[in-house]
Amino acid sequence: MSLILGLESSCDETAAALVTSDRRILAHKLATQEAQHRPFGGVVPEIAARAHVEALGPLVEAALAQAGVTLADVDAVAATAGPGLIGGVMVGLVTGKALAHAAGKPLVAVNHLEGHALSPRLADPELGFPYLLLLVSGGHCQLLHVEGPGRYRRLATTIDDASGEAFDKTAKLLGLGYPGGPAVENAARRGDPRAIAFPRPLVGSGEPHFSFAGLKSAVGRVIGDYAPEDIAASFQQAVVDCLIDRTRIALDRIDPPAALVVAGGVAANTAVRGALSDLAEERGMRFVAPPLWLCTDNAAMIAWAGAERFAAGMTDT
Ligand code: KG4
Ligand code: ZN
Repeated sequence: MSLILGLESSCDETAAALVTSDRRILAHKLATQEAQHRPFGGVVPEIAARAHVEALGPLVEAALAQAGVTLADVDAVAATAGPGLIGGVMVGLVTGKALAHAAGKPLVAVNHLEGHALSPRLADPELGFPYLLLLVSGGHCQLLHVEGPGRYRRLATTIDDASGEAFDKTAKLLGLGYPGGPAVENAARRGDPRAIAFPRPLVGSGEPHFSFAGLKSAVGRVIGDYAPEDIAASFQQAVVDCLIDRTRIALDRIDPPAALVVAGGVAANTAVRGALSDLAEERGMRFVAPPLWLCTDNAAMIAWAGAERFAAGMTDT
């Protein structure tokens, strides 16, 4: 059994967590910067970097205290090493390096996407490799054949916007504020998903790639003509239809693994989860989605990816 300290600071959440290789989450602490960025309608990198500097040290101390351990008990320190906003990534990575050096323990540099990609395995001990992963976050929209730590075959990606970005831009157009995903989902609950026939970019095409820029522009053209709730619901339905169609095409092209898995911030969306669950059932696959708090950025997923890499001997300096 090993104990991993994980740090996350690549966007607008500062987080520290302690996770064991046998999937016990001893502590997870998170400070969101939402309130600081809200007046600007999106994440301001300079504000983010400075807020990470202030928050990270106390969060690490709080996580160690909650878990009842000291730095000396930790077997490795895992930190997000990118991709992300460079100021924030540097704060977390350099802090991780310093802590690892001080403790005389290895550093595990974790790709933020690998943190999301492996997070379902932290919550579900039954989920083995390989699995088909739909990774939907604020910066990415990909289909990955996940074969093990560091072993990913990318089957599809977005040719323009990420799915979370589409939610955020739609929220902005609708004046729903930041962060956009949960706000659009909330409004969509009271709207009619069939009210507006939005485009479904790339649906039906043979390559399983994604595109959301045209959908966002289409939303921009109907603002004021329909109730915001109907726009939100119709937009969300279009995104769901794109995600499902593209996942279907990807499944047709591979030897389907036992499980269909979703991760990343947009995986917190109930409509997305429901539609993927239906698709998995139709294909006789297991459907796995992490609990909501593990879908959006957090440090437990970084600690867990660190634990998986550490167990595989993949450490950094
Ligand atoms: O994974 P994440 O926390 O950060 C990145 O790595 O990007 O994802 C954040 C994205 C944002 O675009 C946010 O609007 C979206 O996930 N999101 C949602 C929901 N919750 C978060 N999108 C749709 N529905 C949600 N409930
Ligand atoms: Zn993320």
